[in-house]
Amino acid sequence: PQVVFIEYDGSQRTVEAPIGKSLMQVAVDNGVPGILGDCGGSCSCATCHGYVDPAFADKLPPKTETEIFMLEGVPVLKEESRLCCQIRMQPELDGIVVRLPEEQV
Ligand code: FES
Repeated sequence: PQVVFIEYDGSQRTVEAPIGKSLMQVAVDNGVPGILGDCGGSCSCATCHGYVDPAFADKLPPKTETEIFMLEGVPVLKEESRLCCQIRMQPELDGIVVRLPEEQV
């Protein structure tokens, strides 16, 4: 399966995402600059913030309370905001589009 990351400047990359790997790790492994992942995926830094295409909203795992709390600290929170370390690749997420914010925390 693949993930499409779209940087704030509009540049787009499609990368392979192994099943079970978090979208944050996929971004870091592929050098996607808009995702930092400072905490290593433990939902405690919010530098993996992205806007997930609403078309995939009902396929995503629900936000944990910790994720909701961390998202409150991001510069521009939107309805489709998620922390990419909290989404693991699944077959039904193939082709998921994640737009990256102008800046991370
Ligand atoms: Fe730190 Fe996602 S990598 S919250």
